[in-house]
Amino acid sequence: MAKEKSVLVLGVGPDQGLGVALCKKFAEEGYTVFGCGRNKENMNSLENTSVSNGTIRGVVADVTNPDDVINVFKKIDESETQLESVIYNAGNNNAKPFLDMDLAFFQDLWEVCAKGAFLVSQQAIPRLLEGGGSLLFTGATASIRSRPPFTAFAAAKSAERSLAQGLSKEFGPQGIHVAHVIIDGIIDGDKVNLRFPDFANSKGEDGKLDIESIAENFLMLHKQKKSTWSFEIDLRPWSENW
Ligand SMILES: NC(=O)c1ccc[n+]([C@@H]2O[C@H](COP(=O)([O-])OP(=O)(O)OC[C@H]3O[C@@H](n4cnc5c(N)ncnc54)[C@H](OP(=O)(O)O)[C@@H]3O)[C@@H](O)[C@H]2O)c1
Repeated sequence: MAKEKSVLVLGVGPDQGLGVALCKKFAEEGYTVFGCGRNKENMNSLENTSVSNGTIRGVVADVTNPDDVINVFKKIDESETQLESVIYNAGNNNAKPFLDMDLAFFQDLWEVCAKGAFLVSQQAIPRLLEGGGSLLFTGATASIRSRPPFTAFAAAKSAERSLAQGLSKEFGPQGIHVAHVIIDGIIDGDKVNLRFPDFANSKGEDGKLDIESIAENFLMLHKQKKSTWSFEIDLRPWSENW
């Protein structure tokens, strides 16, 4: 009998966030989705998310911890599903002028964006090589443009993008579609709406990226035919200055 197909989304936070929207989108397509985040309450609420198709399972793990990452993939192996897509969505944007930051600040951004992406890719690729599939990364404006006070975040996000590009060139010819999505604007989710309400409100109608629409673009990338693979797409609201 053919195995059920699964998708892993790493970096899943609150209900109104891209991580959860990605889990729902792929579950609705019939996949068994494993969502992974650090917060136990968020993972419990993820498991209780209602979807009309597929199933969602929440796994508590920190993507910067090598043992946690190995355990996440062990859980997928134990489920005996065929892993078809891995989405690296973890992010920890933070801003500081250069002379105010210490090594810990710089390293914290690098740990989540670059080291976590490395650890996850090393586990994901051998599994995806078995049946083909996609490895997708969530990028940001900072992935391709550095600007203070986001210099440290840009150094980390551009490292993640470079990792993705190298993997795309190495493993594309072996059947793994590696792609990077540049989110050029602010996401209409809890992360910004709750922390910076005035800034979020100032964006006006359709001035923020809708989480459901972003998730649709990830699904589109995953479904692209082998003859027409994108490495990168950028998504921005119509009114964004760029
Ligand atoms: N929000 C925006 O406006 C925006 C703009 C451009 C690009 N992006 C990118 O979009 C992606 C999603 O960001 P989001 O802000 O909308 O958040 P989100 O999708 O709601 O959730 C992403 C989650 O990643 C989790 N995470 C952070 N560090 C982690 C770690 N070490 N291990 C496991 N999970 C971890 C965070 O969980 P915790 O709750 O544990 O912190 C966060 O909630 C990120 O890659 C971000 O760089 C966001």
